[in-house]
Amino acid sequence: MKKQDFNIKTKRLTLKLVSIKDAKKAFKILVKYPQITDHLTFLTPKELSETEGYFSFVNNLENLSELVWGIFYEDEFIGQIGLHDIVYESFLKKRTHDSANFGYWLSPEYQGKGIMTEASKAVLAFGFEKLNLHRIYAKHIDVNKASGNVLIKCGFKFIGTDRHSAFYDGKWWDEKLYDLFLEELKK
Ligand SMILES: CC(C)(COP(=O)(O)OP(=O)(O)OC[C@H]1O[C@@H](n2cnc3c(N)ncnc32)[C@H](O)[C@@H]1OP(=O)(O)O)[C@@H](O)C(=O)NCCC(=O)NCCS
Repeated sequence: MKKQDFNIKTKRLTLKLVSIKDAKKAFKILVKYPQITDHLTFLTPKELSETEGYFSFVNNLENLSELVWGIFYEDEFIGQIGLHDIVYESFLKKRTHDSANFGYWLSPEYQGKGIMTEASKAVLAFGFEKLNLHRIYAKHIDVNKASGNVLIKCGFKFIGTDRHSAFYDGKWWDEKLYDLFLEELKK
């Protein structure tokens, strides 16, 4: 698949695999609204080079292990959505396979308008239909109700609690684990 084959269009959004030229915009939003990373697995970047480094690491189309799309609303970069830790049986010969970990963030200027639900449904459909994933899973910290609501609206099922699976702000946090199969995806 070529990079353009990963472009996704929804009613209001265009999703494109991020490239280094998107880093400046992402960095600007993350620094302006540090609360975005309150419950994410990474900290607010201090230097643009951190975001550039991440954007040049992901979207390696040779191994497809980390796919990150930029979310564009009227040609404006407003957030990120990704399939992470993608594992295919074909090249890793593992017993757990054809799965991915789903995650996202959105500029607060655009939150509360159903944008992440719209972007999520499209990326999940792409993951199942174009990448042939069998299972997509996601986790969020209990207090992050907005994230849980996005997952439920897409059809994810709550599996259970991963106890003390994240550590930040000097303490251990439980995470809520969800998963989804193609036939459960709400389009
Ligand atoms: C989680 C996040 C992506 C949601 O994006 P969004 O575009 O605002 O979400 P949506 O508008 O699609 O909302 C989905 C549902 O969640 C609900 N919701 C939105 N914000 C909420 C909040 N702060 N508290 C509780 N529910 C909320 C909405 O009401 C909506 O349900 P409804 O349509 O039935 O009302 C956004 O809040 C964000 O970027 N947060 C910071 C990063 C983050 O936490 N990422 C996830 C890490 S696990």
